[in-house]
Amino acid sequence: MSKTRSAYFCQSCGHESPKFLGRCPSCGEWNTFAEELLQKESGSGWKRTGAEGAAQPKRLDEISLDRQERISTALGEMDRVLGGGLVPGSLVLIGGEPGIGKSTLTLQSAMRMKGCKVLYVTGEESEQQIRMRAVRLGESLGDCYVLTETSTQGILQHLERMRPDLVIVDSIQTLQSQYIESTAGSISQIRECTAELQKFAKTTATPVVLIGHITKDGQLAGPKVLEHMVDVVLQFEGDRNYGYRVLRASKNRYGSTAEVALFEMSDRGMREILNPSEILISHHEEPLSGVCIASTLEGLRPMLIEVQALVSTAAYGTPQRSATGFDLRRLNMLLAVLEKRSGFRLAAKDVFLNIAGGIRVDDPAIDLAVVGAVLSSAEDSPLDPQVCFSGEVGLSGEVRAVSRLEQRVAEAARMGFSRMFVPRASLKGLRKAGDGLELVGVANVHQLYARLFNLPL
Ligand code: TYD
Ligand code: MG
Repeated sequence: MSKTRSAYFCQSCGHESPKFLGRCPSCGEWNTFAEELLQKESGSGWKRTGAEGAAQPKRLDEISLDRQERISTALGEMDRVLGGGLVPGSLVLIGGEPGIGKSTLTLQSAMRMKGCKVLYVTGEESEQQIRMRAVRLGESLGDCYVLTETSTQGILQHLERMRPDLVIVDSIQTLQSQYIESTAGSISQIRECTAELQKFAKTTATPVVLIGHITKDGQLAGPKVLEHMVDVVLQFEGDRNYGYRVLRASKNRYGSTAEVALFEMSDRGMREILNPSEILISHHEEPLSGVCIASTLEGLRPMLIEVQALVSTAAYGTPQRSATGFDLRRLNMLLAVLEKRSGFRLAAKDVFLNIAGGIRVDDPAIDLAVVGAVLSSAEDSPLDPQVCFSGEVGLSGEVRAVSRLEQRVAEAARMGFSRMFVPRASLKGLRKAGDGLELVGVANVHQLYARLFNLPL
């Protein structure tokens, strides 16, 4: 027996309502409700292989802990972000803007997973396109099967017959379940298709990787709902004009969300960057003013990053401030601190800030390098290229302690820097990282300025 009904769904958060609403009571967005036709059939979807309802309540200590082996994705960096590989039966969502390289990354991993039967389901590209891409990646084709199908029921039939070790779906927004009337990519479709694949994953202990698009404002297209349903959400991001891509976990039921992996898009697919510090610093022939190196942490991984600033006299009445890879409000705050606490006349200056490599940095420890770069450009005096910085700057101009300073210092020492500016408060507890690296503690931005340009304190 089937019955058809329709309901209104918030296209932003997936909230369901029987009637149209102007404002979503769940997420507060306006004008997001759209009508979607639903059709429910009893006993729809993936049939459980075991007896229905066989699960019994168990005490925690009765649950057996025969941990299943994780499945390696054949990309060491991706495994690290996943917490050591794919967990059998898990549902992983990889989100990213169009053209960032999601299909390339997953196909590459699928081809490298030797001895593992992978089914790559695509609703976006034709078989020929996939084959061409695979050949372009220049690797052996591996044990990878391609299926061009968008109906979940069709996919599930193939899955039952083929029993792959891993399923990749490119993308979840192209799938359609016959039990739902609305178009592919709508909230109810995405939710239903994910639920059907989730059932498959859990009942057969097969990992399923879903690729999802991201909307302009950086949300996973439509469904926040999706993030709740899956076990792991990976974000694949980067500036499309640069080759660098960052893979980070924004949710992980089986590992830490602090791990980050770096890739570089080459003409033969994604290359893992095992040593980011060496890549993100450009080695100039002669020191340039406004260039400053920060020792930052991306997740748990220390990384030396180049910060560039340009301070010039404003051509128009209102000075321009622009930041790439750094929060503009934070830059304005740092400039205000410099103005107020150290008497720098920056209010009438244009300030441009750029983090090299198209990388976005949220680590507050980069503040000190931003201040250093701005000061260097304002003074038009280059800093010693063998110097790096780590420290957060507070509103009264004080340099505050940052997390895991030892790790940052060790990375600077490893990269052969000779001097590192750190918060003075942290200096005492710090073990010396090596003979070559001199640690200089600064308590506030004024001291930093004096130290950098050899002025009396
Ligand atoms: P793609 O994986 O199709 O992105 P997504 O699936 O996230 O939309 O990647 C598309 C871009 O990658 C495209 O602009 C071309 C580029 N690319 C390379 O630079 N090198 C390669 O080896 C491949 C296959 C693609
Ligand atoms: Mg794609």
